[in-house]
Amino acid sequence: MRKKIVAGNWKMNKTFQEADDLLFEIADELNDKGRGEVDVIICPPFPYLEMAYDIASDNDFLVGAQNFSQWESGAFTGEISASMLHSMGITHSILGHSERRTYFGETDKVIAKKVDLALQHNVVPIYCCGEVLAEREAGRHFDVVRQQVDEALFHLGKEAIQMVIVAYEPVWAIGTGVTASSEQAQEMHAFIRGLFTQKYGAEVSAEISILYGGSCNAKNAAELFSNPDVDGGLIGGASLKAADFVAIVNSFE
Ligand code: PGA
Repeated sequence: MRKKIVAGNWKMNKTFQEADDLLFEIADELNDKGRGEVDVIICPPFPYLEMAYDIASDNDFLVGAQNFSQWESGAFTGEISASMLHSMGITHSILGHSERRTYFGETDKVIAKKVDLALQHNVVPIYCCGEVLAEREAGRHFDVVRQQVDEALFHLGKEAIQMVIVAYEPVWAIGTGVTASSEQAQEMHAFIRGLFTQKYGAEVSAEISILYGGSCNAKNAAELFSNPDVDGGLIGGASLKAADFVAIVNSFE
């Protein structure tokens, strides 16, 4: 059975001391309130990964990166590779977040390379897809997401695809306070699962966790997560407060 997952995307937030405090607060809240059957993955900025990994090893969460380089290694000043992450025990990485696409020009072709590197180095990709507002308003949201998934993931074989976590993040809902309705989320998640069914068969698609992201918070998480094809969330703003984040973790029925 596929996993329930709540991942926190801290983006470019927190000083070293604030990150240390937040990691311990999350660990304490999780110890108090538990995490049920849910995998919790914290994705802090790169400089805090080692600290997060150390705290996670004594506690009940996993650690992921927010991105890594499309190249294996070499003369790429300022970049961080998948093999570096793996060598320090990091098990997951967000890939293809809309902010990477918008501000850093990442295309699905580039993201496909990163997905391959992730799998080569045993890093689980959390692949983000989702349409912008104009695309939804033009009724093109299904086409856009189909193309993203097709270009970034569908070169993978049946075994490899089962390593991937998908996050549907409608760009108009990210950081805006406007959440997709429960119906909109379920509709798109079912559509995405349908794409995996067509390509890999029902048995494989039933194993793939599809997370919702975009202004998901402690108030709306329970309704979003009650949908049959919503397997958890990728949480931005609300992952920066331990109590809110752990309330989201505990929002599953
Ligand atoms: P948000 O961000 O929860 O702040 O909308 C989600 C994300 O970008 O992953």
